[in-house]
Amino acid sequence: MSFQAPKGTFDWLPPRSERVLAVREALAAPLRTAGYGYIETPVFEDTQLFARGVGESTDIVTKEMYTFADKGGRSLTLRPEGTASVVRAVLQHNLHTGQLPVKLWYSGSQFRYERAQRGRYRHFWQVGAEALGSEDPALDAELIVLAARGFASLGLKNVTLLLNSLGDQNCRPAYRAALQEFLRGLDLDEETRARIEINPLRVLDDRRSEVQDQLADAPLVVDHLCAACKAYHEEVRGLLTACGVAFTDDPRLVRGLDYYTRTTFEFVHGGLGSQSAVGGGGRYDGLSEMLDGPPLPSVGWALGVDRTFLAMQAEGLADDEARQRVQVYGVPLGDDARRRMFLLVGELREAGLSADMAFGGKGLKGAMKGADRSGAAFALILGERDLAAEAVQVKDLATAEQSEVPLAQVVEFLKGKVQ
Ligand code: HAM
Repeated sequence: MSFQAPKGTFDWLPPRSERVLAVREALAAPLRTAGYGYIETPVFEDTQLFARGVGESTDIVTKEMYTFADKGGRSLTLRPEGTASVVRAVLQHNLHTGQLPVKLWYSGSQFRYERAQRGRYRHFWQVGAEALGSEDPALDAELIVLAARGFASLGLKNVTLLLNSLGDQNCRPAYRAALQEFLRGLDLDEETRARIEINPLRVLDDRRSEVQDQLADAPLVVDHLCAACKAYHEEVRGLLTACGVAFTDDPRLVRGLDYYTRTTFEFVHGGLGSQSAVGGGGRYDGLSEMLDGPPLPSVGWALGVDRTFLAMQAEGLADDEARQRVQVYGVPLGDDARRRMFLLVGELREAGLSADMAFGGKGLKGAMKGADRSGAAFALILGERDLAAEAVQVKDLATAEQSEVPLAQVVEFLKGKVQ
């Protein structure tokens, strides 16, 4: 084995890869019912887009970006998240000058140079949704409800919603100052002290116990919200309650990206250990202006597909039981039979059945093994004598019953049996 997938990455292989495709579909399905349109943006963007959009003081920008110069000397970065790209695309194509909100969803690879561990990868997959250009608590609630529905549709029971408000440009500065004053009085290492001055909210997110132990009396943003932010937050909470979406108020929830204002939330799963967030998001009313656009109050989320899959495994919802790969499997014996089987398999597929056949000139025994492994319900055995009789042996692999069917009728025969 000479090459391995790079550290922090892995391959999705069948049959799991099929299941993870289904997970992506399930997480996106509720969005389609709510008028979100699909957007695909490039996997790499101008480095400055993320530096400004995600925030110069975040771990993502300072430590985790895959940045490279292309042959034209441009600094490009593999996207670490989707929101900045979506805002860029909306502004570039003037979508915000039409009907608002602009509702978009996406699904794709994200890249972060993180310390790799279970549930934390350097290449991972998100399904995301963004609603741009409206300041309306019902939109925040809509997105949260749609995410909750996605998780529920996968059968997940152990997902909890944590909810907070981070205030806005009116009330956040006073809170920030109060938090800084509190933090400056603590016993913290040099790097953390520096963070107090740049992004004090991130210190609340420090997982180390020596830091957490000192934060019990830290001022909380909920106690510093202005009247407008408070009313907005109460409205979001009320709407969630009205549609039966349970949540836990988490006044210490700060997200790892700088663009958030007001509503912030995270979906966490109890069975994942330290990397428990299966999704997260919030309102980002100032991001468009940070990217030289007009004011465009917006809200969105991204759900981690890989972690959602781990959560499903933790709940026993992703057992790798053998799955049916195809419905019918062809077993040709001899060259002439192989040519005829090749055509027959094509006819079956055209008729809407899934079919595969033994390749590589296998004998009866080897080919029947392939039939068993394929999970097919029926094997079609075609020998020289069958060919001469213009017939094929149809073997029901569950009962081992075998019957002879004319070649001209076998497609119709099987259609009646397996569909
Ligand atoms: P985020 O919290 O950085 O938010 O990522 C969202 C989700 O992606 C996480 O909850 C987690 O499930 C998954 N995720 C993040 N990093 C990794 C990783 N290294 N390995 C595996 N899964 C990971 C955002 O990305 C924002 N753009 C969300 C948003 C959209 N906010 C507003 N609109």
